[in-house]
Amino acid sequence: MVNPESLSLDYVPAFLPHREAEMRQIEKVFSIVKRKADLVAPKVFITGDVGSGKTVLARRFGMNFEAELLESGIRASHVYVNCKFEGTPINVLTAMVKQLKDSSFPLRGFSIEEAVELFVRCLKDLDTFLVAVLDELDYIVKKYGSYLVYVLTRMQEKDTFAGRRLATVFIVRDISVLQTLDQSTLSTALSPVVALRRYTPSQLFDIISRRAELAFAENAVRPEALSLISNIAGRYGDARYAIELLSRAGTFADFEQAKCVEPEHVRQATNILPYSVSAEDLMFLNRHQRLILLSVARALQDGGDAYVSTMEIEKFYRMLCEEAGIGPRKHTQLWKYLRELSDLGFVSKQISEGGRRGRITLFGLAVSAQALRSKLESQGAAEAY
Ligand SMILES: Nc1ncnc2c1ncn2[C@@H]1O[C@H](COP(=O)(O)OP(=O)(O)O)[C@@H](O)[C@H]1O
Ligand SMILES: [Mg+2]
Repeated sequence: MVNPESLSLDYVPAFLPHREAEMRQIEKVFSIVKRKADLVAPKVFITGDVGSGKTVLARRFGMNFEAELLESGIRASHVYVNCKFEGTPINVLTAMVKQLKDSSFPLRGFSIEEAVELFVRCLKDLDTFLVAVLDELDYIVKKYGSYLVYVLTRMQEKDTFAGRRLATVFIVRDISVLQTLDQSTLSTALSPVVALRRYTPSQLFDIISRRAELAFAENAVRPEALSLISNIAGRYGDARYAIELLSRAGTFADFEQAKCVEPEHVRQATNILPYSVSAEDLMFLNRHQRLILLSVARALQDGGDAYVSTMEIEKFYRMLCEEAGIGPRKHTQLWKYLRELSDLGFVSKQISEGGRRGRITLFGLAVSAQALRSKLESQGAAEAY
């Protein structure tokens, strides 16, 4: 590997194969800004499964658009915030202010109204056109409703001047979240939805071939290795997994001081890196949420079922807490965490009719329980970080 940074997950390549049409769709929505039309804050929603390129597409668009506006003499900037990471609408707004202004700015203890005011004032003060990318909006909408989206898409009602200086790209994983937004926020004519489809193996092949050219010395990755990766990751249509496999296979080849990355290195990579949730996603969870997730995985493996009850999950959870020497949370809190894990997409929920106790909620996993366990256990699920 000559340039491993280009395989990092937040690297934003200049060109995104197989997303040209979607890029044009987004550019078209925002082109009114360049024509200086007196139109209200344009916005676009991007949706698609994990690894379909939502984040990278939005970031690349933000960078390009900022540069284009600057070229045509319009003051412009762009910010990227991950809503799940920020956690609350207030934090999302203040995070944008922080990026735009002095990052040492004290930003604590604001109410939502104050945070909105602060953001509006920031747009006015800077007198710059802002492209805001709000990633992983799902969590915030599920937990706090649509107020944040409402405010950002109705900026011109708050302040006409600020309203003409904002364009927003919202990213949601789960399209049903959009149905919970109120009708006027989501009148489709004004808020186009760009839906990204899962990548096919041949599309993944193109994507990782380009990445391989950037990251490795010339011809250091055998095409057979690339097609093996594309076929494996193609089962999920997930570019993130494809890139992770390429990176891991490269590490193995480097370690062996092999001349080329061979299919065997890819097989070794899949062994230690089965398809699972990303380590990055797990970082968002607190210690008890991680322990509960691990309990779900253990309970599922223990029972051999597709779904398990909270009672079984709790049994494993208490055991894990004891092993780690920490006090378990109460039942109601466990419930809350399970619901959150389901909102975040880590576990799936199933309502079981029948049964002696009437309707009960059961929990399952979309990924392999073993894969998730090895990931959580290797990260030290009980560690506080
Ligand atoms: N069309 C593409 N061209 C190049 N790299 C891509 C493309 N689509 C996705 N990727 C890469 O795949 C990984 C996952 O993409 P990402 O945008 O994070 O997916 P999502 O946000 O939909 O989960 C990232 O490393 C990203 O750079
Ligand atoms: Mg993403």
